Amino acid sequence: MADKILVVDDDLSLRQFLSIMIKRAGYECRTASRGEEALELMAADPADVVVTDLNMDGLDGMDVLRRVHADWPDTEVVMITAYATTENAVAAMKEGAFDYVVKPFNVDELKLILEKAFEKRHLARENETLRELLSDRFGYASLVGRSASMQKVYDLMERVKDTPITVLITGESGTGKELVARAIHFESDRRERPFQSINCGAMPEQLIESELFGYVKGAFTGAAKNHDGLFLSADKGTLFLDEIGEMPLPTQVKLLRAIQERKVKPVGGVHEQSVDVRIVAATNRDLDEEIREGRFREDLYYRLKVICIEMPSLRERLEDLPLLSEHLLQRHAEQLGREGVALSSAVQRAFADYLWPGNVRELENAIQRGLALCSGVEVQLEHLPDEIVGAVQSSQEGDLRVSVGPEGVEMEDLLATYERALLTSALDASGGVKKEAARLLGISFRSLRYRLQKMGMGLEPGDGDQSGLLDE
Ligand SMILES: Nc1ncnc2c1ncn2[C@@H]1O[C@H](COP(=O)(O)OP(=O)(O)OP(=O)(O)O)[C@@H](O)[C@H]1O
Ligand SMILES: [Mg+2]
Repeated sequence: MADKILVVDDDLSLRQFLSIMIKRAGYECRTASRGEEALELMAADPADVVVTDLNMDGLDGMDVLRRVHADWPDTEVVMITAYATTENAVAAMKEGAFDYVVKPFNVDELKLILEKAFEKRHLARENETLRELLSDRFGYASLVGRSASMQKVYDLMERVKDTPITVLITGESGTGKELVARAIHFESDRRERPFQSINCGAMPEQLIESELFGYVKGAFTGAAKNHDGLFLSADKGTLFLDEIGEMPLPTQVKLLRAIQERKVKPVGGVHEQSVDVRIVAATNRDLDEEIREGRFREDLYYRLKVICIEMPSLRERLEDLPLLSEHLLQRHAEQLGREGVALSSAVQRAFADYLWPGNVRELENAIQRGLALCSGVEVQLEHLPDEIVGAVQSSQEGDLRVSVGPEGVEMEDLLATYERALLTSALDASGGVKKEAARLLGISFRSLRYRLQKMGMGLEPGDGDQSGLLDE
């Protein structure tokens, strides 16, 4: 795609001159005689660089600059100005013009400016592609994971972060709900303002209310002076309501009012105060169920879930496990001064076989514990909690978890692989004594020999048919 330039000048001869010069330099060029016309041409087909005269009737160069920046933020604007008005050119630079030339100008000077403008555009485009590539890979903010389900989470976060929209985060325990809430705040344009959070579980009604809305002096025994609640201290920032599913019903009513009216009234007070707070709430409860049971208000639910981010469980995104393990291992190894410690391949297999009911938090705990218990350079199975190792054993005991996807499997090949692995392992365990290997596998010697032959695991010298039969 050719680089496109739009020239705006009320002087016909200058327009023609510029158009010829720009086309000769290899760019695409259109011209407009007025600011209004330029904006119409931009709307029809945006240019990469706009070269505009500063003094024009109607919309002047400054107006063109502002409009173009507002509607096409990636387009660069270059000003042409008469000598007498260079001060205006400086003002234009302050407003974000890329550069300016003073009439009568030198052609090479303008060419150089155009080259630089395009260089900047190309760099910006490359960075954008790079960012997209990167964001498509490993994670977002402090979140790690490249599975499709996490990409969906990042995508939603990116789209809502700079809006004041209320966000509800749902998901099992340990899936990263709090991490997402923090990332939404610290990636947003509210990041310079406070992030306040409160855990609504395990707190009596009166306490949550005075925490959220504040109280006035004398509102209750012990209220010795006025106290701002979290809503006020999070003004222009973010308030994270964790475990919202456990909030007492009367508090839910007050919260709903605060969200709807954007005003709060301290406990014991009479005056309401306006607040601008972005609410992010999280729960691992099924709120539909809570509503059916009469424990959660439906009206509040709909206020909260304007945007709902559903965190996938770890077992739904097992493809992220290697990346997450590596990330958590590095982080904790560094904290413990144990850089370079790795997970043994048996540990990695055990991780892949486990169902992770406690999700990423459980993985993180297992890795921390592994690091603490291992003294060598590898975390081994023996350093893992029993339930994770237990999962490996039970899957070896025939409780094999398999799933056949839409792409199908080669069953015979898979069975053969499994059979070969069992035979090899039994032979290892028996020190190569076949009779013992057969016993370990619960099959007859004849059956073992047949299977070894079938697998091409060959008969060694002295394993001749005769002796084999005798051996039995
Ligand atoms: N995608 C992720 N990338 C890296 N670390 C993660 C990720 N998800 C979770 N963690 C880590 O796992 C731990 C648990 O995460 P978090 O506290 O956000 O979970 P939660 O969903 O709020 O859990 P709960 O419902 O139990 O409160 C934290 O230490 C967090 O840093
Ligand atoms: Mg949490």
